[in-house]
Amino acid sequence: MTAIKSVKGRRVWDSRGNPTVEVDVRLENGVLGRAIAPAGASRGTREAIDLRDGGNALRGKDVTTALKSVDDVIAPALAGMDAADQAAADAAILSLDPSPLKETLGGNATVATSLAILHAAAADAGRPLWRHVADLYGCTPSVPLPEIQIFGGGAHAGRRVDIQDFMIMVPGAGSFDEVMEVTNEVYFAAGDIMAGKGRLAGVADEGGWWPIFDSNEEALETLLAAIEKAGEKPGERVVISLDIAASEFGKDGRYRLALEDREMDSSALIDMLGGWLKAYPIAAIEDPVGEDDPDGMREFTRLFGDRVQIIGDDYLVTNAALVREAQAQAACNAVLIKVNQAGTVSESVETFRAARAAGWGAVVSARSGETEDVSISHLATGLGGGQLKVGSFTRSERMVKWNECLRIQDELGSDTFVGGAPLDGTWWGKQQRA
Ligand code: PGA
Ligand code: ZN
Repeated sequence: MTAIKSVKGRRVWDSRGNPTVEVDVRLENGVLGRAIAPAGASRGTREAIDLRDGGNALRGKDVTTALKSVDDVIAPALAGMDAADQAAADAAILSLDPSPLKETLGGNATVATSLAILHAAAADAGRPLWRHVADLYGCTPSVPLPEIQIFGGGAHAGRRVDIQDFMIMVPGAGSFDEVMEVTNEVYFAAGDIMAGKGRLAGVADEGGWWPIFDSNEEALETLLAAIEKAGEKPGERVVISLDIAASEFGKDGRYRLALEDREMDSSALIDMLGGWLKAYPIAAIEDPVGEDDPDGMREFTRLFGDRVQIIGDDYLVTNAALVREAQAQAACNAVLIKVNQAGTVSESVETFRAARAAGWGAVVSARSGETEDVSISHLATGLGGGQLKVGSFTRSERMVKWNECLRIQDELGSDTFVGGAPLDGTWWGKQQRA
């Protein structure tokens, strides 16, 4: 064992220019592990709290309280513990803050510390992080299948359109490089189309094109046109994935599409999305209804769960208990894994395992506020069989994670690339077999 010598927080800045928490975990032998907390904009109400100072300075977003949690509360408790025992370290952190949403320490403090411990243990063992994760959790590593944003929307684009993410997946690719090539072609084809309409206006928070559209469906039409312009037949090598992020425009089963000045109930929303599933090659859809609409989620899953991946993000907030409950209720068939929603690595892995044990998909995901931290590329690889959602195909806080996957693939081999496998039984998988 190598004991933890010190744990130290530092204020750094994320992709939106907001302060965030970085943690250095130093071991007795001098080895260093470092990680940075990301930050969401469309947050679930049941996810771990992102502790911010409030007040006027730095728009209330400073993190000095969370840094104090790291330096004054977490550090003394972890000193002397074995860095390789992630479960014990995370349990020690949890025992300092039994509140369900980590209000006391702050999820930003706990997640950066927990990930930094993981990095330290990997470095101490002389292994890449993905290998350490695979060994620690007894998983077979594989290069994940990405979903990549082409148009941003919702809370990441000033609510210019209601739907949050218009993405592609390339499950028909044979390697991660091939996914990158196809994405480059589709991304710039989409830009050319926007430019041709006089609607090119920069990018949204995660690097996808800014969505100047007259309706949400126009974004889908444009995405389809971009896939075709890139020389692809939609639904073959390339499919569409959407994050509806319905909690952002719905409450108590009522949904309001501001762009189209339309209000609808849960079943009308489900009808509308069902229409899209028929008309477009959509293989995955995230948060199709709000986090407070379990009846809607059950109904959506009953109608479409056999042909599309239905991913719970705000709906499940990387919480293993909520995943098991959803499984019992036949709601969703996949989960988004955001380490900072749970607050520790151990809780996130438990959620990942709960999902996979029931045959669910699991998509390891970044947040809309990101940094140079590449932990999630390694987590997605190390846990194996999964998918990875990082935002779009521009801006270095996104590209750094895709590029890390390319380096990992060089070591691990492109034959481990997840490709179409997890989509078997879905709309896309059935198309492939037919
Ligand atoms: P967020 O968005 O990081 O702003 O929550 C990402 C998502 O909803 O998937
Ligand atoms: Zn989401």
